Amino acid sequence: MSAAGLPERVRIMEVGPRDGLQNEPGVVPTGAKIRFIEGLAGAGFSDIEVTSFVSPRAVPQLADAAEVCAALPKRSDLRLVALVPNEKGLERALEAGIRAVAVFTAASESFTKKNVRMTIDESFEAFRPVAARAHKEGLWLRGYVSTAFACPYEGAVDPSRVADVTSRLFDLGAHEVSIGDTIGVAVPADVDRLLALLLKRFPAGKLAMHFHDTRGTAIANVEASLRAGISVFDSSAGGLGGCPYAPGAGGNLATEDLIYLLDRLGVHTGVSLEGVMAASRELARSMGRPLPSKVLQAGGVMRPLGPAT
Ligand code: COA
Ligand code: ZN
Repeated sequence: MSAAGLPERVRIMEVGPRDGLQNEPGVVPTGAKIRFIEGLAGAGFSDIEVTSFVSPRAVPQLADAAEVCAALPKRSDLRLVALVPNEKGLERALEAGIRAVAVFTAASESFTKKNVRMTIDESFEAFRPVAARAHKEGLWLRGYVSTAFACPYEGAVDPSRVADVTSRLFDLGAHEVSIGDTIGVAVPADVDRLLALLLKRFPAGKLAMHFHDTRGTAIANVEASLRAGISVFDSSAGGLGGCPYAPGAGGNLATEDLIYLLDRLGVHTGVSLEGVMAASRELARSMGRPLPSKVLQAGGVMRPLGPAT
């Protein structure tokens, strides 16, 4: 903890190449994806979620997962994570040299049904063999809980349901569980309420928060999470993304906006804001449209400002 009661350092899981690109209406060419990920790797991330080994019919934007992974440099200081929904996905990920995988379910039944055509219980049945194999192969395993605050079909989600799903993911052997505001509705009071419950049951160091900025509240929610002791955040370079199964879920929290806040709070990330902006700009050029990150649009930090203490 720093003097201000904030964690001294934060680990960022960069999810733009997966959560971002899966929601693009068009398919970004494989070469542009690889350059984007290489640019992000050069910016200093320790963790990048690079793609999904899901059904190419469900997410055609990431059908080139194997090609993307094959082209990426394997470095001991950079964890390349891939999303897998089932054993077939895990098999494909292993063949592509991936050593860290994420499984995903949700705290609401209707969302899970639309997203993976399973009930929450069935999704856990599908993960059991995936988790067992991942453990046997020595892989790092992450779990995602989507719709942790509200569901686009059912409305508000009870924090105790989030705690139950989180607990089941840890029981399966997840090293980290990411708690997602998939449709970007949470405000800091919701975050306080959910984390008060979760942190009674799970260590802060094993939880990540995954905010979407659909209603402009993501950065406020990050600050509330930091004050509660959370030190892992998911974000997407340029603010790319959302989720195709969550209507209206625009824009993940932009990595540039997150780093700007953390830099000004004096919280160490190890990631260069300029480096992320360069990777986002190059991707924006190949997509032919600007990306929504506010800090990116403002041109970053015009002159060094230092911590706001
Ligand atoms: N990789 C590639 N193909 C896969 C696959 C995987 N991981 N899992 C299933 N498939 C293929 C099957 O081989 C089958 O192909 P075929 O019709 O050519 O024989 C087809 O997909 C259907 O398989 P099935 O097991 O019946 O799955 P389903 O149609 O019920 O779909 C999921 C279930 C989970 C595979 C699919 O909904 C999915 O991949 N969803 C991903 C959603 C997502 O990524 N959301 C992002 C988080 S917001
Ligand atoms: Zn997301």
